[in-house]
Amino acid sequence: MSLNISVSGADPRTNKVDVLALGVVEGRHTKDLAGELIGAIGGARAELRRFDFTGKAGQVYETTTAGSVKAGRLLLIGLGSDELDGPALRRFAATAARHAKGARAASMSIVIPGSGIDNAEHFLAQGAVLGAYTFERYKTGDNASKRPLAKVALLSGDKVNSAVRESADLGRRIAEAVTRARDLVNTAPNDLYPEAMAEYCKEMAKTYKDNGLSCTVLTHKQILAKGMNLIDAVGRGSTKKPVLIHLKYKPKGKRDLKRLVFVGKGITFDTGGICLKPGPGMDEMKGDMGGAANTIALMAAVAEIMPDAEIHGIVGSAENMPDGDSYRPGDVFTSYSGKTVEIINTDAEGRLVLADALHYATELEPDFIMDNATLTGAMVVSLGTTYSGYFSNRDELAEALKAASGRSGEKLWHLPLIEELRDKLKSKWADIKHVGDRWGGAITAALFLREFVGDTPWIHVDVAGPSMSDKDYDIYTRGGTGHGVLTYLQLIDHLIQS
Ligand code: BES
Ligand code: ZN
Ligand code: ZN
Repeated sequence: MSLNISVSGADPRTNKVDVLALGVVEGRHTKDLAGELIGAIGGARAELRRFDFTGKAGQVYETTTAGSVKAGRLLLIGLGSDELDGPALRRFAATAARHAKGARAASMSIVIPGSGIDNAEHFLAQGAVLGAYTFERYKTGDNASKRPLAKVALLSGDKVNSAVRESADLGRRIAEAVTRARDLVNTAPNDLYPEAMAEYCKEMAKTYKDNGLSCTVLTHKQILAKGMNLIDAVGRGSTKKPVLIHLKYKPKGKRDLKRLVFVGKGITFDTGGICLKPGPGMDEMKGDMGGAANTIALMAAVAEIMPDAEIHGIVGSAENMPDGDSYRPGDVFTSYSGKTVEIINTDAEGRLVLADALHYATELEPDFIMDNATLTGAMVVSLGTTYSGYFSNRDELAEALKAASGRSGEKLWHLPLIEELRDKLKSKWADIKHVGDRWGGAITAALFLREFVGDTPWIHVDVAGPSMSDKDYDIYTRGGTGHGVLTYLQLIDHLIQS
């Protein structure tokens, strides 16, 4: 169910909602509207002092309004500095929505903070959707929310024109596209297997048919016929067949467009295969299609925005299971590119699926390829769970992604493709082996992928850390996060202009 978001010039004092949310600049909680409302609620001022609420970024104070205004509860959220940018506004609205959700509010109004921030309503709408997100597919009866947050009004204190309404609406639609990534990651692996993900993409493409989105799926049979033997190898141990999903966005009537290709790792469950992972924590490997989820969500967002570029989303999808027919360490396969690959560890399955998907991507002769993958534990060891790490074969692309991350507020860090480590992938038996040793594990994985992109300008993003979260933070909710999608939209903007 989509969140109803409106922009209105209504007075926050007379607007009848369950929760009224206000941003407070640090040290200014006694001034402005917040000061007036707090003053009207008996004891609130003393309580703020006791809780040391000063408006520091992320601080939250919630109280009843005791009838002083039409809203039932008042929610003050610390903004920190008054120099607010898009990401800060998004974070503020997400925090408000998460708390409203926690307070069982069905409706909330948010007073648009500051004055003259360009497109404030756009970012607030995004934050509200991302913070309000819940995944309740498997909750029944009393375990399901009775009164989910359904309505958010953004109060502008001014007359509202149609441009403002449209910018809020586009913000909502982009954020809803991001929640597709969360839904896909959160879906149980018995429901989301490769062919189910392909069906999902076909349905999505139907929804956006008029916006220029289409979807084709290479079935297992076609994968074999084409010689995508690495995708086949990874899927061999599962009764669920592997697929290659190809989403394509092409705006009608436009010529000389840049061609951009996004590729996602879609391992719907990663047991490790014959090199079986330990049991504790293995359930999290339902999220091993986080890169695919990002790719699919990005394509939905692209279909909403309709930019002037030809954009492809490719997902290599398989389930990595142990079985009598599983691939094994020591096996050698001829990849789709023609290079032979020696298998070292069946738990390093993602790079194999990506190798064939990346080669398929190069056949489109694109201007740019980016892949997204929950690729290595080594990346999580390096950067923790809030940053994705990325690699590129072009310095200017690495810079462009850094700038895009600055604009989106999402955290990504550039890591080097260390040439000395390439030797670790030399194989005694085949053209290349697919795993080095423990040291620099995220880098050798990236170097392996590089073998399959030729000279195409390319970025590899390892999203293993932030793709799933065990807690709510920033604009993210527990479970799948969609971390990265907003940044890739910024990057697309840049690539179109450059
Ligand atoms: N899906 C995992 C990587 C992963 C780890 C994602 C933690 C999210 C959280 C990947 O397929 C994997 O198992 N990689 C191995 C590679 C190793 C065998 C070379 C790893 O990182 O241990
Ligand atoms: Zn694995
Ligand atoms: Zn994996």
